[in-house]
Amino acid sequence: MSNLHGRRSTLPIRGVPVTLKIEMPETAHQLCTNPACAATFGIDEVRLSCSSCGSLLDIAYDWDKLPRPKSLSFFEGRWATKGTELTGTLDFSGVWRFRELMPFYRREEDIVTIGEGRTVLQRADLLARQIGMKPGSLFLQYEGLNPSGSFKDNGMTAAFTHARMVGAEKVACASTGNTSASLALFAALSEMKGIVFIGSGKVSVGKLSQALDYGGLTLQIQGDFDACLRRIRQIAVDVPGLGIYLMNSVNPFRLEGQKSIMYRILEARGWEPPDWIIVPGGNLGNCSAFGKAFMELRDLGLIKKIPRLAIINASGANTLNELFTNRNLRWNGGDVDCKKIGDLYAAMDESNYHPHTVASAIEISRPVNLPKALRALDVMNGVVREVSDDEILEHRAMVARWGFGCEPASAASLAGLVKLRQEQVISADEHVVCILTGHELKDPNATVKYHTGIDLKAAQDLAPRGPVHGKFANQPIAVDDDLPSIVKALGGDAEMIRGIKVEVSKSSLPTREY
Ligand code: F0G
Repeated sequence: MSNLHGRRSTLPIRGVPVTLKIEMPETAHQLCTNPACAATFGIDEVRLSCSSCGSLLDIAYDWDKLPRPKSLSFFEGRWATKGTELTGTLDFSGVWRFRELMPFYRREEDIVTIGEGRTVLQRADLLARQIGMKPGSLFLQYEGLNPSGSFKDNGMTAAFTHARMVGAEKVACASTGNTSASLALFAALSEMKGIVFIGSGKVSVGKLSQALDYGGLTLQIQGDFDACLRRIRQIAVDVPGLGIYLMNSVNPFRLEGQKSIMYRILEARGWEPPDWIIVPGGNLGNCSAFGKAFMELRDLGLIKKIPRLAIINASGANTLNELFTNRNLRWNGGDVDCKKIGDLYAAMDESNYHPHTVASAIEISRPVNLPKALRALDVMNGVVREVSDDEILEHRAMVARWGFGCEPASAASLAGLVKLRQEQVISADEHVVCILTGHELKDPNATVKYHTGIDLKAAQDLAPRGPVHGKFANQPIAVDDDLPSIVKALGGDAEMIRGIKVEVSKSSLPTREY
């Protein structure tokens, strides 16, 4: 396991002055999510899983020793904070406004923020009418209004804060597009080296253009997202010489920031929880963060009611629905039946299955946060459904016509709501919040094709075709899914990977190995 105990970065993020403020005591640690193991690790350690049992990690707090608000309305006052000093900057962030609920950082000046999380919850009566719901019952949470255009910024701000705490200089992710856009933006603004692995031809052109524009070293790997993630995890863990800090949602700090989406929804509703939260599921980090947010708010006595959760898969990438709904896989107090997962993954390998959906953001077949998502479903009395590509496209068009629009994956939430209405799981007057995870302009191809039949997808293959003249031109590098070639592209050498198993096993369970 790599440990990035390098020098502490003291570079201020652009526009954020560094002033010494509160020095936090050691009241946070990393905790294995497997209750039977419950191993703990220091907050400064860089880990992707528990070294004892291989399970995912959580960030846990000694709440008794921490200053915490008596009621959630405490946070409202921060809307009024003005100014560019540190407190003003943190209060301006829709994530750090709630910093007492994610106090893993030691010093406020380590926090890396770019004004993320200033998103809105919009009452959507016009859309509600279209799907037979009562006025005042449907709400849309527009996470596409984040600086990089997706909910990922909520998590990146937290993971970059940890990266700065441990002195990381190179940060990387595998991505279906939004994580890479967000990482590249945060890396540029915090003066770290951003590296993104994307599946060749798998990322919508809007997202790819962002990674290039923000200066991320962009590797287009021959393979899909699952392959990219396996590879970057291998490199982060086994090639310490490259000093890479991993920013995917398997990093527990990312999910601390994503809890804030729930806080903002509560805040916008006057701290009255809705009946349902509906969210698209890909790598299952977001829904996991939602479950943790409500678990903690309940344990802190800050809410009385927990909303129900619906996680919506695309039919072409339906691992969670298959396991949860069809094969009855449950959290089971942390004793997850890994054989059920292993059997499904083995069958996928045998049939050479690859996920495929128009909602490229959620085209993922081996979600790394699966056990945490099961825990969230348990805590929030949740359900899982899958929706077809046609349903996704039709409901995306409806959000555009009667809302501000969203990218295809985000519309899975509305399509899922309609399905749950038809099944009478959700009634016409229940209060429902659909999370719109990404901005409409992320995937203009899908929109143009829907309206005209013209497929602009060729633009996604950005193999260099001719000379480029821009002073800041940042060409992507196409590379095979092959460890030596990738390490070379990252500036490493053969020495760094001497003795390392070059192949990564496809069938490994999500919580073990890579
Ligand atoms: N919606 C959008 C727009 C996304 O980009 C993603 C994930 C999801 C939903 C699913 O969220 O993974 O937490 O279940 N995108 C990742 C990426 C995988 O690389 O950008 P999840």
